[in-house]
Amino acid sequence: MPAPEDDARRAFAETFGGKEPQVAVFAPGRVNLIGEHTDYNGGFVLPMALPLITVIVGSPREDKKICLVTTAEGADEPRTVEFETPSMNTPLTPGVPKWANYVKGVIQHYKAGPIPGFNAVIATSVPLGGGLSSSASLEVATYTFLQQLCQDDGNLVQKALTCQKAEHTFAGVPCGIMDQFISVMGKEGSALLIDCRSLEVKPLPLTDPKLSVLITNSNVRHELTGSEYPTRRRQCEDTAKALGKESLRDASMEDLEAKKDSLSEVCYRRAHHVITEIQRTEKAAEALEKGDYRLFGKLMVESHNSLRDDYEVSCPELDELVSIAVEIPGVYGSRMTGGGFGGCTVTLLETSVAERTKQQIKEKFQGSPSFYITKPSAGSGVLPP
Ligand code: GLA
Repeated sequence: MPAPEDDARRAFAETFGGKEPQVAVFAPGRVNLIGEHTDYNGGFVLPMALPLITVIVGSPREDKKICLVTTAEGADEPRTVEFETPSMNTPLTPGVPKWANYVKGVIQHYKAGPIPGFNAVIATSVPLGGGLSSSASLEVATYTFLQQLCQDDGNLVQKALTCQKAEHTFAGVPCGIMDQFISVMGKEGSALLIDCRSLEVKPLPLTDPKLSVLITNSNVRHELTGSEYPTRRRQCEDTAKALGKESLRDASMEDLEAKKDSLSEVCYRRAHHVITEIQRTEKAAEALEKGDYRLFGKLMVESHNSLRDDYEVSCPELDELVSIAVEIPGVYGSRMTGGGFGGCTVTLLETSVAERTKQQIKEKFQGSPSFYITKPSAGSGVLPP
């Protein structure tokens, strides 16, 4: 696959009469090491930005037209769309193709303006729908692109929140803040412990050459994602209310046990996952700081089991990938990452066993997986013209 920047520049020249784009920006996908389905409960998450990125290249136009092209593998048709910049009377609304909704949503919610018309090409190395936040990377890349055409106040938290709002209103997914936040704030060489209630961030260096992070894409996606995510979110909010708390972040295991009899069995298990996962994430951050990879790995496996049994967002393929990985000596831990129902697992292992682990997974896994050995990378930014 060509690097997304080269791909975008080639397509721009082809589509827009051989001209060089005036602006080039990127935003990364992410992998979450631990802290799953905790962000919309005000809890902790521990993601890192990836070297897999979405790139947008483009130039402003004299008129009010916006012309977008995508080269992304798996994007729905048509791959080219044209629309007018929004105004008070004619706001943008979501429609088809779906890929353009992420861009339209960010344009619609962008506070600085008015933005000029523009031509742009999108290219990406983040697999679409693979659980590595291809959508957040497109939203954040769009915002970064708009910042070059029409400067905003530079508030990075606002940037992440605006991109999250685009996901809520134009993609219809009531996501938490993790994906957009890490795509904006990612730091080379560090995973970020994010407190999703205060939005405070603590970088945790992850530069030990003896340690690797392996992402395994199951390349399966179950259709449940769309309907189950909002259901989980609602169950958490209802349970927090039943416990008399603003969010499950404020609830302890004692609080939960005290009300166990008045909760449905499902809500009890959902809250059990969230409360224990928040605790695990704090412990895992401490373990990483101390270089205690064994403990970190054990917490990853506990996280996976909790997502499988209590939160019920795993699937047989992800369970199988985790089981195969954790049998291999030198693997510290493995778990599903992201929303669930397919997508990827993340595995922490000794660098020396990375190739062997890939080999074993290829031999034993029933599907056709793909792999990325990754390093914590930078958040969104501008590429040289
Ligand atoms: C998706 C959402 C995130 C988060 C994860 C689960 O990636 O976009 O906000 O809730 O699922 O941890």
